[in-house]
Amino acid sequence: MTDTKKSAAKKSAAKKGTKRIAIYPGSFDPLTNGHVDVIERALEIFDEVIVAVLHNPAKKSLFSSQERVDMIKDSMNGFKPVQVDTFDGLLVEYARMKNAVAVIRGMRAISDFENEFQMALMNRKLSKDVQSVFLMTGLRWIFTSSSIIKEAAQFGGDISDMVPRPVKLKLMEKFPKLNRS
Ligand code: PNS
Repeated sequence: MTDTKKSAAKKSAAKKGTKRIAIYPGSFDPLTNGHVDVIERALEIFDEVIVAVLHNPAKKSLFSSQERVDMIKDSMNGFKPVQVDTFDGLLVEYARMKNAVAVIRGMRAISDFENEFQMALMNRKLSKDVQSVFLMTGLRWIFTSSSIIKEAAQFGGDISDMVPRPVKLKLMEKFPKLNRS
């Protein structure tokens, strides 16, 4: 066994008996069923998933970070292993503060890969303590994204089966045309 492997084994032994926490960071503007699918898959591996909404007032978003948090909480319906929070600054610092062992990112298609790869390598450079874990979304959600849902909803397109119900209700408040569909 190499020294690196020994140290990894030691770390993993030390973690036994403790909760394995993963951070699922993102803009979530808004949460989609694709995101929910990733959360469910992450819970197959980790004991707790913290859905961490990026709070960045400089970034233009449809929903405020509080609205995004509330929609996620409502959609998760108090399901204990899922916590919802906001973060700002460096993701790896936040992960360290939460004692998380991994950062989860969903992958839909090859087009996601380049950006995700770059982010993961930057995060690894900034911290050796947190691993990036990529989870493939279910085929059903492969073309789903927050931006495309917002675009369709804006013009009254039916997005009912792409977002949890609490998100649909908030989108209806923002886009009056959606009310008529
Ligand atoms: O849903 P998104 O917009 O693709 O999520 C991107 C997010 C929030 C994961 C990313 O922008 C992020 O981690 N921001 C925090 C700042 C940071 O740590 N940057 C260094 C790694 S690139």
